[in-house]
Parts: sequence; structure tokens; C-alpha cells
Amino acid sequence: MIARLCEEFNKIFDRSDEPRVYFAPGRVNLIGEHTDYNGGHVFPCALTLGTYAVVADRGDDKIRFYSMNFADMGVIETGISDLHPSEDDGWTDYPKGVIWAYEKRGLRLTHGMDILIWGNIPNGSGLSSSASLEVLTGLIIKDTFGFASISMTDIALIGQDAENNFNGCNCGIMDQFASAMGKKDHAIFLDTDTLRYEYAPVRLTHAQIIITNSNVKHSLVDSAYNDRRRDSERALKILQEICPIQTLGDLTEEGFENAKAALSDPILCKRAKHAVYENQRTIRAKNALLNNDIPLFGSLMNASHISLRDDYEVSCPEVDHLVELAWNTPGVLGSRITGGGFGGCTVSIVENDAVEKFQEDLRRAYHERFGLTAGFYLAAIDDGARRLDRSEQTKKEHRHVV
Ligand code: GLA
Repeated sequence: MIARLCEEFNKIFDRSDEPRVYFAPGRVNLIGEHTDYNGGHVFPCALTLGTYAVVADRGDDKIRFYSMNFADMGVIETGISDLHPSEDDGWTDYPKGVIWAYEKRGLRLTHGMDILIWGNIPNGSGLSSSASLEVLTGLIIKDTFGFASISMTDIALIGQDAENNFNGCNCGIMDQFASAMGKKDHAIFLDTDTLRYEYAPVRLTHAQIIITNSNVKHSLVDSAYNDRRRDSERALKILQEICPIQTLGDLTEEGFENAKAALSDPILCKRAKHAVYENQRTIRAKNALLNNDIPLFGSLMNASHISLRDDYEVSCPEVDHLVELAWNTPGVLGSRITGGGFGGCTVSIVENDAVEKFQEDLRRAYHERFGLTAGFYLAAIDDGARRLDRSEQTKKEHRHVV
């Protein structure tokens, strides 16, 4: 595949030099949803699915972008100092936002580039195709212009800045952090308040992590997401009048129960409850994984789904159905919606010998009920974003996801 991307690069941009190749993964979050802008914990893994870039420098100040996923949009050109979001430029607002965020930090590009993109994360699936594109661009710029002071954590923060302030989605840090900082066969336990993190090995000898794509994309995702964030912030303000807290993540369940009477609006009360309980569940889930207590881990995933469905209200009937089908399938240890919500994917832990039946049953029952075809991926956990040298390019050709 990578050789094909390089060929395509030379064809599209009419070049014959040796380009550089980069990769940034998508992510699946095991637990800890809508906690990353509430000062809580998250527990994502970087995936072998992700976004690739083939890049070569230009002598002028133009950046030419081409995505094989949006081939009908053709080559899109921008000047390195002419950066503003534009609906006509579609997907390039993500990389443009990253260049803009670098410039904001006084780090200017000194020449242009040709960039070809190809990704295998299904768009709108909640597996962070846009964050992977932001992190990928952040890495290309660091590498190309020798910005040695920029760490991989900075690349995640730059990607988040681009998403928040150039693209208008007020997301937290989880997706960009997971894409930048992933580690093969490990989940990242991240405290989003301090950005302290620890890697937890994912060694499920008798089970697999299966991602199920509902193939439902909700168009209002960004505005509904920003609404949830606003609800959480309003709830925090009210609780701060009676508790010495900086974030909802500072509260334990008991602390919340003692303070919740201050939240007279039942919607705000439900939103805050989710943020507090989900954070505590995530801490418990990390310990369960370290103790190899997968049944406990699974039951925390199930409780996470119920809270996201009923209190945070970010699920939808199609995803609820997939999760309920999973709960009723023998050999499933846990299942929940993953990512921002309003469609997208579920994540389930399924015993090895139940995997086939799980896929068959869910595919059939989901199709019967909604007329939609579910997609399945065995989650293979990869390292974070990196430049691919020749040997890694070959290795990546041979790793694959179902
Ligand atoms: C989206 C956002 C993340 C996070 C999740 C929900 O993926 O980009 O920052 O808030 O939703 O957990």
C-alpha cells in the first residue's frame, strides 16, 4: 500500500523525488467518555487503523494537498501565510488549522510542501480520523522544519488548538493525545487535568477487543458536543459555589451526592453525575485491567454505556441496539458506545471463541431492525504517530485489521 501511495504522490504532483512517509493512528477509547474536558481520566488505545501522509518539500510558499479519500476534490492549494477556515476547502481545514496553531506559537513554515493523504479510519465513526490528521500534520511540520522544542504532547495540544479554534469543535485532549502518544499493546491512562499518563498493558489472553461500527453518522455532532460541554461547565460553576473544586473530576461519587442538591436543573444534575461517576469508573477500570479482572472491567464498561445513554444522552437508538445485542450474547464481557457519540462505534470485549458468533448475530439482528450493515474491526493496538522509515513501511504492510 505504501509503495502505491508514493506512486500516486508522484503522479498527482508530477514529481519523481523520494518523498517522506508518516503515519498517525486513530484511537478507540476503552472507558472514560466525556471526561476529558471535565478534568477527569480517559483510557484510550491507538489503533493500527490511521492516516498516512506522503510529503515532499517545495521551493515556494505553496502547500498543495490531495487526499485519496476525497479524490473528487482534487488538489487543494493554499499559501503558508494565508490560513483561514473555508467550507470550500473541506478536509484541508484540519491540516491548515495545525499550521495556523504552529504560527500562533511563533513557529513559521519557511517553505511549502506537497502532501498526499490516505486514511483507513471510516469517517464519522468516532475513531478519530480528524485528530489523526491533525497529529499527522503536527508531526510533518515538526520533522520538516526541525522544531526540536515541540514534543509529542505539544503536537497533541497543537492539534486540539486547531480543532477548537480553527475548526470550531470544543473537544478535549483525548483523541490527539492518544494518536500522538499511543503505545503498541497498551492503553493510555491519562489524567486530562495534569496530562500525567501511564501505559497499561492490554494482555487479553482469552478475549478480543472488537469495534462495531453502527454506520450511523449524525450531522449535528459538533453542536450537540459543544452543548454537552457547556452543560458541564454550567454545572461546575454552580457546584463551585459550595465545593472547593477546580473541575468535576475533583469530585468523588460521595462528594457529588452530598452536593447535588445545588443543581436544581435536572439536566445539569444528570450531566455532572455522568462526568463524576465516569471518571471514578475509569480509575477503577484501569486497576481492574492491571489486576487482569476482565469481568469487572466489562461491567464498568456496561455501566459507562448506561450513563452515556441516560444521563449524558449522547447515544442513539442504533448504537443502543448494538450494545444491548452484545450484552445478550454469550461470551461478551462488556460493551459500550465509544467516542463522542450520536452514532459511530461501540467497543466490546468478547471471548475468543465467541467472536465469530458475536459478529454473525449482531450483523443479522442489526440489519433486521434498522436495515443497516454493521462493520467489525478487531482492535490491534499500535504505537503513536511516527515517520515511517523503509523497514517500518514494510512492517506496516504486513499488519492488518479485519
Ligand atoms: C470526542 C472528543 C474527545 C472526547 C470524546 C468523548 O472524541 O474529540 O475530546 O471528549 O469525544 O469522550
